Amino acid sequence: MTLSGRLQAAWARLRGLPLWLQLSGFGAIVAGFLAFIFFLGFVSGERAVGPAYPFFAKVTNKLENVFFGRKLPPQLESTVYNSALLRLEAKVALVDTGRDPNDTNMLSRNGGGLTSFGENVLLLAYNGKIYASSGPGDVRETAVMGPDNNQTAYQALPDNPDYADYSFHRGYLRYNDLMYVEAPSGPLLVASYTEFNPEGSCYANALAKLPLPVGATSIDEVSASPQDWEVIFRTTPCLEFKKEHLAMEGHMAGGRMVFQAPSSIILTSGDFHLDGMRSAGPGIAQDPDAMYGKTLLVDVETGEGRILSMGHRNMQGIAALKDGTVLVAEHGPRGGDELNIIEDGLNYGWPLESYGTTYSGTPIPGAISFGRHDSFARPVFAWMPSVAVSGMALINGFDESWEGDLLVSALSDLSLFRIRMEGQIPVYSERIEIGSRVRYVHQHTDGRIVLWTDNSELIFLSPLQRVDEGQRFQNWLATADLPRGVKSGVDTAMGRCVECHSFQIGDDDKAPSLAKIFNDPIGETAFAGYSDGLKSRKGNWDRESLTAFLDNPDAFADSYMPASGINDPRVTEALIDYLEYLDRQF
Ligand code: HEC
Repeated sequence: MTLSGRLQAAWARLRGLPLWLQLSGFGAIVAGFLAFIFFLGFVSGERAVGPAYPFFAKVTNKLENVFFGRKLPPQLESTVYNSALLRLEAKVALVDTGRDPNDTNMLSRNGGGLTSFGENVLLLAYNGKIYASSGPGDVRETAVMGPDNNQTAYQALPDNPDYADYSFHRGYLRYNDLMYVEAPSGPLLVASYTEFNPEGSCYANALAKLPLPVGATSIDEVSASPQDWEVIFRTTPCLEFKKEHLAMEGHMAGGRMVFQAPSSIILTSGDFHLDGMRSAGPGIAQDPDAMYGKTLLVDVETGEGRILSMGHRNMQGIAALKDGTVLVAEHGPRGGDELNIIEDGLNYGWPLESYGTTYSGTPIPGAISFGRHDSFARPVFAWMPSVAVSGMALINGFDESWEGDLLVSALSDLSLFRIRMEGQIPVYSERIEIGSRVRYVHQHTDGRIVLWTDNSELIFLSPLQRVDEGQRFQNWLATADLPRGVKSGVDTAMGRCVECHSFQIGDDDKAPSLAKIFNDPIGETAFAGYSDGLKSRKGNWDRESLTAFLDNPDAFADSYMPASGINDPRVTEALIDYLEYLDRQF
């Protein structure tokens, strides 16, 4: 039989099969193809090399969007986060860094750091640009470029045949921090980043400074090119690329700073995964001559630097308490995120000792104990399971109830941790769900807390005090111009409403919050349990619709809220007066 004859026979046999078999065969082919694409995307996402990479990255990202409904960053949103002592009003601003949202490297490419100068929060982003924002609705690119980290030369390495034996992750040469300081010689911006050295074919952490014009009060008065920055410090030795795993693991660079008057910076310098697990040889954090896995003390005026403490992994957060105590939030291995108090000359044990394990749960290779911290300086606190700690800030002047607390941001846990310090002892840690990978936490000079997330969001947090709802209502009732009988009717009716409803903004857990309901859209708070009827109802609440709803929720919109049972229209009217009054308060 000829080839075409054979094909025709096979086709006829296929056509003869029942339709359901034909369809499921087709389905299996499609599913196999999708699985293959996922696999390729996964592999290329990790290895990040080769000309086909951008294509597969795009395809897998599209598919992930379809199947897992990845939430794209909101344009401009306001929401409320709950915490034990405070409710936090969060306003979200999206920073357009020009990043391709289909680039699956985007999470890793983020890095970056925040600082405050005048009215603006400044962001140094992955692309080396500096953005300024005074709040949501005002985010702009400034005329100040960050220092040059030789990104272009680094990006060319995967295509260079001399480096064929290495695997590069394109997103791992990063900017790690930005800080405004008032040095004895004048105001400066200091940037911390990982720098590629093309001549030496190696990389190091670097600090560069940009003197600001004396008297400048805003970044809008400044312009600077990358060449205007002066490199003041580079960690030594300049590290060579490794052939195991990825050539350069810049997501482990640390690179966060805290200022110590008059002119010192404490810089965290990560171990770049040179820990014996992802590299050959012993952990670099224990090498007393290498400035990695160390905290460093650097003078911004002279550029002199020395090792302060050793035995660290990847310290992504650093902050100083009012009494001068310096703490770092250290991104550990599995189960080993630590909060350490830094003391000159101490060794914190990594990778010889850790509370954490390898990703398979086995002891860290070369460790002298398992899951213990017996021989070296111990953390004052650790997260179990680990949350992927990132930045850290001391809170000062945000709200009295948070005064002196530490905020630690977390990546994989999508949250913030508020740590209450009593002296040098952390007495509790409160988790506050944010919902994005939080890369950096900073307190602005005006008191607001600002978060930078891997979704390119700047989130501005302000405290929303809890009010005494009962007292507020009684105060209003006392001054309301109502007959005595109506007053007591309103009081009784309200007693029923508060069995379910809260009057705090954003407190929509049990029932919709009624704090701002008047004049607001029907059925659109964050309450998760709306009936279909109320949810699909269009329009804003006004006097008429509220009266109809309270009289008969079922008739109004198939709502399952029980009827108020009020039989005096003056009482209903007064309740609505109160809702209107409340709305005016916010
Ligand atoms: C038994 C619990 C309960 C009581 C008591 C109650 N509510 Fe409700 N209320 C709800 C629930 C649940 C919803 C959402 C109903 C739905 O989705 O159909 C709701 C919805 C509402 C809404 C619309 C909210 C929105 O987001 O559009 C208003 C206004 C309202 N209630 C006012 C009141 C007032 C005023 C009282 C007191 C007279 C009261 N409720 C008593 C549970 C209650």
